[in-house]
Amino acid sequence: MLYNFPIAGQPDGPPETLRTPSAARQVYLETYGCQMNVSDSEIVASVLQEHGYGLTTDASRADIVLINTCAIRENAEQKVRRRLEYFRARKRKTQGALSIGVLGCMAERLRHKLLEQEQLVDLVAGPDAYRDLPRLLEASYESGQAAINVQLSREETYADIAPVRPNAGGVTAFVSIMRGCDNMCAFCVVPFTRGRERSRPATSILDECQQLIDAGYNEVTLLGQNVNSYRDGNVNFAELLVRVSMLSPTLRIRYSTSHPKDCTDELLHVHWERPNVCNYIHLPVQHGNTQVLRRMRRGYTANHYLGLIDRARTLCPGISLSTDIITGFCDETEAEHQDTLALMEAVRYDHAYMFMYSERPDTYAARKYEDNVPPEVKKRRLTEVITLQNRIALENNRKEVGCTHTVLVEGRSRRSAAQLRGRTDSNKMVVFDRHGAAKGQYVRVRITGCTSATLLGERVPAQRRLATHMREAGTLLTAA
Ligand code: 5AD
Ligand code: SF4
Repeated sequence: MLYNFPIAGQPDGPPETLRTPSAARQVYLETYGCQMNVSDSEIVASVLQEHGYGLTTDASRADIVLINTCAIRENAEQKVRRRLEYFRARKRKTQGALSIGVLGCMAERLRHKLLEQEQLVDLVAGPDAYRDLPRLLEASYESGQAAINVQLSREETYADIAPVRPNAGGVTAFVSIMRGCDNMCAFCVVPFTRGRERSRPATSILDECQQLIDAGYNEVTLLGQNVNSYRDGNVNFAELLVRVSMLSPTLRIRYSTSHPKDCTDELLHVHWERPNVCNYIHLPVQHGNTQVLRRMRRGYTANHYLGLIDRARTLCPGISLSTDIITGFCDETEAEHQDTLALMEAVRYDHAYMFMYSERPDTYAARKYEDNVPPEVKKRRLTEVITLQNRIALENNRKEVGCTHTVLVEGRSRRSAAQLRGRTDSNKMVVFDRHGAAKGQYVRVRITGCTSATLLGERVPAQRRLATHMREAGTLLTAA
């Protein structure tokens, strides 16, 4: 994902004591990778603005280009590298006036290479070093030398930093609740790039959510690499969800990412009992074969996972599920691959993020196994997984035709100003004719058609809504 900061305005400027020669400069911030990186860029924007830097969405006007990077797969790194080459060429044209910085996961992983061998950048800052950015920028500006801080922390949660959100006045916001990961899945570089797990204090999360409600936001997504491990004193993740959900009945709550080995009944009960905790879970399975899951060090078997899905569907009828899947992991046989397809048929996810395995240096898999599934086989298996998922998603969506959903309007549809887009409680995107509705409203939409990715619908007229309501009430009375 590429995500730029729109103009955050020319700040009035910080107190004189904070102003530095470097701080008169304009920063262009570009973000790659996961939602966590998007959230981190909002922290970076806040730190920089606090120190008087201007933020611009126009790279050609920038004095400083910062790229917040992702290291999860090789192609993510290649994308960033190409971008760095581009800015290095720009820098040459400006006789060095442009400063280039690498932030985030690649900074952590490739600090020496970026600085020394390739001399691509002036600044390298890891995910726990964002408070230090003003000093680093200043140091490299003053000395003309590269500045670096890739120290990982066991405590840093940026709890006291108010993120500067590019969509100020928006409908949905990310709220980071924890950082790092202790899980050490064999394929994953995140524990190396983001360090140990640590939770942000619950009070600061609740304060931030309250501020978002006051500012008119209607949805928050609580973020962490493994939210199930959240703990602040006696507040675990289920309890945190309850507390956030009680701030306002009209605030929708989502979260990402949940680990199947730690997903508890207590959490599933919260989904069912709290109407504004969305009836949707992203539960990455990664693979459908128990031997592969063992090699991946995921901590559950395929049967355990399927049992968890049954439990979720029993405790939360109608719950929507999505997942992550990797094809072509080390030693994956054709039969093991077929197990992934079979598991997908059994679960019937509404949505999936699907990837070919990409070996990451230093991970357990890179050290212990051979990356021995040929690229064309990985690719073919990925295509099979994607084709199956598209079919299942389309079939699931077809079942929605005729149903009516409460949709939170997120904005105009990409195709037409006459249409709006928003999401159902179950996280499905719906496009429908505007008919007077506006961004930020909850509207009732009857589904009239679909693709595998989007539902199409029409607003239910007010009278009809009332009638539906009465019918539902009647059904309840009859049932009682
Ligand atoms: N290769 C391919 N996919 C990966 N993921 C994490 N590491 C790798 C890798 N080395 C995927 C997993 C994870 C998602 C965020 O990215 O599916 O859940
Ligand atoms: Fe990576 Fe596993 Fe942690 Fe997710 S849970 S970030 S896949 S190590």
